[in-house]
Amino acid sequence: MIITPVHFPTLRIHQSPDEDDPVDAPLTVPFASGTAALRAGLAACARQRGCGILRLLVPSYICREPMDALAADGIALRYYPVRESLEPDWEALDAQAGDADAFLLVHYFSYPNAAAQARAWCAARNIAFIEDCAHVMERGSGMGELGLFACFSPWKFFPIPRLGTLVTEDTAFASYVPDIPLARHRLRYARWYGKRSVQRVLTAAGIRWYARTTVDTPQAVAHEAMAADRDVLAHTRRYASARTWIRQRRQENAQAIHSFVRGRRPDVLVRQSVPEGIAPYALPIIWPQPAADVVAVLRRRGIPATLWPTLPDVVRHDARSFPVAHRYAACCVLLPVHEHIRPRHLAYMLRMLATVL
Ligand SMILES: Cc1ncc(COP(=O)(O)O)c(C=O)c1O
Repeated sequence: MIITPVHFPTLRIHQSPDEDDPVDAPLTVPFASGTAALRAGLAACARQRGCGILRLLVPSYICREPMDALAADGIALRYYPVRESLEPDWEALDAQAGDADAFLLVHYFSYPNAAAQARAWCAARNIAFIEDCAHVMERGSGMGELGLFACFSPWKFFPIPRLGTLVTEDTAFASYVPDIPLARHRLRYARWYGKRSVQRVLTAAGIRWYARTTVDTPQAVAHEAMAADRDVLAHTRRYASARTWIRQRRQENAQAIHSFVRGRRPDVLVRQSVPEGIAPYALPIIWPQPAADVVAVLRRRGIPATLWPTLPDVVRHDARSFPVAHRYAACCVLLPVHEHIRPRHLAYMLRMLATVL
């Protein structure tokens, strides 16, 4: 049995004129990726505030790639510790705030983080509040609504090559956001489509093309394209009306895995329940010990579980200051909740989970 994350050619498209367009809402600016949207938003923030070097507070539990890109842009990154709930460690932050210009809050795995508290904390210190919604399919439920801007990664939810968006309600801020003309990366697009098609054929043939544990190799992303692709954007619009279905299916899958795990090992869950009304990105489980072996076993059995990618260097080399980030990086297993996981796949996944829980 293989639980496939390949979904491109089979996603159902429901036409519903009532659904908002995910890339046409007011003040939604498309970019090549979530990282590109974040870079553009932070550049705009620096211009608006008139600071040469933007001092940005970022959670220590974040992946290295986007942070390398921000550092290459000249942004001064200051990592703050997080709590077990993945909320910022407010006491530690108070000591770090100093002359910071901006603060980044991540809504991990689609779990709404403490946005209202973060906004109040920032407002009291004249710090720009920014929301990282890379794990969030759509704005709402306390995510992407309160920040000066929020960055999203629609490509993590829709069957499309890379696309990011910057969303803001602040028209004064929006005037600082660079207007980058859409590009056309035909070769890249064709490569992506070809790869997905091959993966689909392999999956249909029962060949486990992702059985290896993914090895995260940090890449130089600083020079990655900023511009969104015209074809990818057009493609994304076609999937706007599938969002309700995707949300429901992911919600059902996450709920089923969550209650199964809660029945056996409530101690490994990050939250006591899956928030309703959201499209979960994945279901995180915090193993009591480093979980690379568990992920390898699950992948060999056809379940595309993953570990969190590499932490930024500063965090990686300082386990004492960032204990939660270190533990989660080693022990967090992300279980798939993809919309195409059907009841029989789910039953198989739970059986396999039972062998490692
Ligand atoms: C928390 C977080 N922020 C930002 C990003 C960057 O998004 P993208 O991969 O679209 O550049 C990622 C990537 O996974 C992420 O996990």
